[in-house]
Order: sequence, then structure tokens, then C-alpha cells
Amino acid sequence: MPTERLTMIGTGGHAKVVVDALLAQGWTASAIDFMTEDESAVGGTFFGQPIQRLSSESPVDQPVHIAIGSNAARGRIAALLQTRGAAFFTIAHPRSVVSHLSRVGDGCFIAACAVIGPDAEVGLACIVNHGSIVDHDCVVNDFAHLAPGSTLGGGVIVHANVLVGAGANILPRVTIGLNAVVGAGSVVNRDVPANSTYAGVPARQLHETRT
Ligand SMILES: CC(C)(COP(=O)(O)OP(=O)(O)OC[C@H]1O[C@@H](n2cnc3c(N)ncnc32)[C@H](O)[C@@H]1OP(=O)(O)O)[C@@H](O)C(=O)NCCC(=O)NCCS
Repeated sequence: MPTERLTMIGTGGHAKVVVDALLAQGWTASAIDFMTEDESAVGGTFFGQPIQRLSSESPVDQPVHIAIGSNAARGRIAALLQTRGAAFFTIAHPRSVVSHLSRVGDGCFIAACAVIGPDAEVGLACIVNHGSIVDHDCVVNDFAHLAPGSTLGGGVIVHANVLVGAGANILPRVTIGLNAVVGAGSVVNRDVPANSTYAGVPARQLHETRT
């Protein structure tokens, strides 16, 4: 066990999946301090543990995992905590497959049945969700989220803050630009510009990304 206690930020659906992965690794929920910005959840419980308010004074003296699916929220909270010297903790479900020849950044979540191939690089606080495949030589930049069942062919580049929707397939060597969104079920066979939303088979631009 790499650390004895962990702070987890987020108590929504994605956080439930992350805790499930920790329990599968042998953690107990009582070793996790849960925090949130969601005032309606503060004071309640999550996996039987009290939920505390995340504030600018919250302690960062133990490793932190931001278990929030939204790339924008994850990135914003990470930036705040980074300035206070927080260390981010990566969690990989024991039934994920992460090549020893890949490099996975701090604060990532690798879900069950996800695969990360050799010489792939994954940046800070990314989510490689259930059954998602990052093939050899891909580069996935900070705060990207590869939704369940999405596939990156070999050599794909995913820039920061990108959402690749559930079940989407990105063909080999395609580049997905900064902040772009790829719709669920899409097949992307050409580069996607920054700040745009592409969807369909083959994927076409729907509109500029809504913030
Ligand atoms: C692509 C996406 C972002 C578009 O959302 P949006 O901006 O709200 O777009 P709308 O729902 O208004 O749809 C706009 C048009 O695009 C079409 N469209 C939306 N999503 C599509 C998709 N995935 N594939 C093909 N067409 C799609 C809609 O049918 C609509 O077409 P119309 O104008 O002919 O009726 C969204 O549909 C999507 O796929 N999100 C990914 C969800 C996901 O996988 N989340 C992961 C959770 S873990």
C-alpha cells in the first residue's frame, strides 16, 4: 500500500467508481477523507464516512485524488491545490492493464478493464474510464477524460481537457485539439481542432465547445 490515508475530492457517481477501485485494492473506506465543494453534500456521509467541506484552508498533508468527472472542475481544483503543494495520487483498478512501458501521470484514475499500451503517456489527473483503450505510443494530456469504452488507436494525441465520449473510436495517429469534445459513439478519422465538438460516423463538427 503506497500511502496509509488519502483525501478524495468528490462524492458523486465518478467518486463512487473510484472508491470501488480502491476497495478492490484492499483499502477500507475509513482510510479515506472525503471532501466536496457541493454544499448540499457537506455534513452527509459517503461510504459511511463524513463528507467535509473543501475550502482554501482544507489540509493537503496527505495524498489527494480528485474524483470528479468534469475536466474543467478537476483542472480548476488541481490548480488550486497545486499552489498549496498537494501531492496527487493515481488510482488504477486491479483489473486494469497498464503497460510497464507506459508513463501515467499523478492523480489519474484508470478504471476496470481499461488498457494502456506500451510507450503511451498519460498526463496529470486524467480519467481512463471503464474499458477504454489507449494503444501504443498515444499521448493523453492533462485533465483529459476518455469515457467508458472509448478507443484510441496507436499514436493518437489527445490534448489537455479533451472529453472523448463513451464508445468513440479515434483512428491511429489522429490528433484531438485542446478542450475539444468527441461525441459518444463517434468514429474520428481526421484531426479535430481545438475548442470544437465533433460527433458522428465519420465525425464532423457540431459546434464550438460550450463552456
Ligand atoms: C456530442 C455531444 C457533446 C453534443 O452535445 P450537445 O452539444 O448538447 O448537442 P445536442 O444534444 O444539442 O445535439 C446537436 C446535434 O448533434 C447530434 N448529436 C449529438 N450527439 C451526437 C453523437 N454522439 N453522435 C452523433 N450525433 C450526435 C444530435 O442528434 C443533434 O442533431 P440534430 O441537430 O440533427 O438534431 C453529446 O451528445 C455527447 O455525445 N457527449 C458525450 C457524452 C459522454 O460520453 N459522456 C461520458 C460520461 S462518462
